[in-house]
Amino acid sequence: MTVSLVSPRAAQWPYSSFERDHGVWILESMGFRRIAQECWGGRASAAMHALNARHPWDHNAAFHPWILTRLPQSRRLAVDVGCGRGDLLAALAPFFEHVHGTDQDRAMRAVSHARCAGLANVSIDDADLDGLPDGADLITMVAVLHHLDIEPALATIRERLAPGGRFLCVGLAPPSSVADHAWDVASMLTNPLIGFVRHPWPAVESAPQPPIPVAQPTVELAELGRLCDQAMPGARIRRHLGFRHTVEWTAPHSG
Ligand SMILES: C[S@@+](CC[C@H](N)C(=O)[O-])C[C@H]1O[C@@H](n2cnc3c(N)ncnc32)[C@H](O)[C@@H]1O
Repeated sequence: MTVSLVSPRAAQWPYSSFERDHGVWILESMGFRRIAQECWGGRASAAMHALNARHPWDHNAAFHPWILTRLPQSRRLAVDVGCGRGDLLAALAPFFEHVHGTDQDRAMRAVSHARCAGLANVSIDDADLDGLPDGADLITMVAVLHHLDIEPALATIRERLAPGGRFLCVGLAPPSSVADHAWDVASMLTNPLIGFVRHPWPAVESAPQPPIPVAQPTVELAELGRLCDQAMPGARIRRHLGFRHTVEWTAPHSG
């Protein structure tokens, strides 16, 4: 099935505001969603889109509490890979001696620097995974793993974590199994409701921000599970509403 089967308008509504705002339908290959949109007709899709635009919510920041309630005991160094606009860096700063963010995008680093101005324990650079500091107590990735070559990325993260350190990852994957599609439909249906609860007042125009770089996820959750099992035995993977899954792993104290 190709994108042209769906009107541009109908293709918009299940996406988060930044995905929509920047015109990248990162989940566009997810056939079931588009079939549902076609079946419901353009009017229903347009109405849903209008509702989402009126009550937008950030599908990534929504997972910050998930991260903040799973912090490791030792809190010397936290690293957020692909820190984007730096909101998670600022949220982690009160809990760690040092918080380090990396992003390969210059505009995102500039926004992060501005966001974290005045937070003396936050640093930001453009290091790639191989340049990450050793001995991190926490490594986070929110909507970033699918930008990377997953197998070597997981191996590098495992090496960079201190014993007892945690990898907390929020990710996206294209649906393929029946369970994936069921979660996808549940995410579609609850998306406007969650928007309404999280953002009950209608959105107002704000100053334009640099676009957040996005990528289309291609590795299915089943395959991701296999890769995580290899690199991080015992990693816990869970599906969530909001078209996201999480990966949680604690590095062993020995071996
Ligand atoms: C979808 S955005 C997510 C940003 C942020 N984590 C959030 O939750 O809003 C993905 C980010 O990963 C960054 N990124 C992609 N590949 C990267 C890499 N190899 N190293 C560091 N950052 C990377 C992009 O520049 C972008 O800011």
